[in-house]
Amino acid sequence: MDKLKVTLTTLHAVLNDAEERQIVEPDIGSWINELKDAVFDAKDLVDEIDTEALRCKARDQTKKTQVCNFLSTSLNPFKYKGMNGRIEELFQRLEHLADQRNRLGLKQDIGRNVSQRTPTTSVVEKGFCPYGRDRDKEKLKDLLLLSDNESSSNFSVVPIVGMGGVGKTTLAQLLYNDEQVKKHFDTNAWVCVSEQYDDLRVIKTLIEQTTGKSCDISDRNSLEVRLREQLRGKRFLLVLDDLWNESYDDWDHLQNLFTYGAKGSKVIVTTRNKHVASIVHNTIPIHILEELSDENCWLLLAKHAFRNENPSAHPDLVEIGKQIARKCNGLPLAAKTLGGLLSCNLDCKEWSHILDSNLWDPLHPTSILPSLRLSYHYLPSYLKQCFAFCSIFPKNYEFEKENVIRLWAAEG
Ligand SMILES: Nc1ncnc2c1ncn2[C@@H]1O[C@H](COP(=O)(O)OP(=O)(O)O)[C@@H](O)[C@H]1O
Ligand SMILES: [Mg+2]
Repeated sequence: MDKLKVTLTTLHAVLNDAEERQIVEPDIGSWINELKDAVFDAKDLVDEIDTEALRCKARDQTKKTQVCNFLSTSLNPFKYKGMNGRIEELFQRLEHLADQRNRLGLKQDIGRNVSQRTPTTSVVEKGFCPYGRDRDKEKLKDLLLLSDNESSSNFSVVPIVGMGGVGKTTLAQLLYNDEQVKKHFDTNAWVCVSEQYDDLRVIKTLIEQTTGKSCDISDRNSLEVRLREQLRGKRFLLVLDDLWNESYDDWDHLQNLFTYGAKGSKVIVTTRNKHVASIVHNTIPIHILEELSDENCWLLLAKHAFRNENPSAHPDLVEIGKQIARKCNGLPLAAKTLGGLLSCNLDCKEWSHILDSNLWDPLHPTSILPSLRLSYHYLPSYLKQCFAFCSIFPKNYEFEKENVIRLWAAEG
């Protein structure tokens, strides 16, 4: 039992790492399925043993032998296969998978609970040329350059909402780095907020960026005073990238510091969450960032798949590639990831294999699975499991959130 529990703990840690990599490494995908089956079977077995042991204990405290009896007989309806046999068999499966774990180079990664995407910065690649965002950029740029003299507030929030990987950060970077925009503001700062909202870190980053110096203040009051003074009377542009926090109080507290700037100051907020956008928005309407067209998705995918080669040298690949691009459903992150995957092998068979891969749901040719899968892929591991729980409900079934929470709690 102890050995099984230890093996389970370590393998579970690998499961988290493997989940991150399976999308671009099909080998890991099938390995992970086998491992998941084995891990879940093992968990069931441990639960069965625990429950039975508890029951024996409760039934008769003195008859200690019962647990042993139980272990040597079986819970399994197939009589001849005892509990020991099942444990033995599970160990073999797990050990076999553990051997492969080394071959696949998977790492243990216990306790990681933050998103895998690296924090964003304001820096864009030199000569980066986005596909299909001209209109979004022009519209938002005009809003940024408004002087807002009639507005009652001296700063406006520009909320950009869209699903993960649709290009919010990229659009914010394009705006932030635009020459005209840069000239328009007295000072500017970029902070990647992400899931774990830490207002002191946000304030500190804003101070460091606007002063260009590192800041070692840790006292809340001094930090707030410092930022307020830093922004006082200036026309500033701030970017809060990837905001998740839904607390109105937190936002209200932070935005108080922004009220000391000059009229026409702007704060770009990007978020996946419409509710967050409605909390932060003041005068400027929420900008919904739509998916790219299939054509633009293809251009982006082709750029990453062919790198320096000319696509027209591979007419067969172009045909398959366009079909793959369509399956990205307008998500640049998907197009880019798949382009990178495809570039490893400029070969028709490989490409068709990916087109027909079980990465896409074969039952639903128009499914949005890949893009959903990508946004799932970028969830922190602990949230992945919570999210996956929703799949136990039938389609269109109306469920109570308390029930799901109880199920999560039951799983620890
Ligand atoms: N219009 C675009 N053209 C080319 N690449 C893009 C475009 N939009 C996004 N990308 C790329 O797609 C990836 C995901 O975009 P990102 O801005 O990080 O999405 P989000 O912030 O919405 O999650 C990035 O690597 C980015 O370079
Ligand atoms: Mg982003």
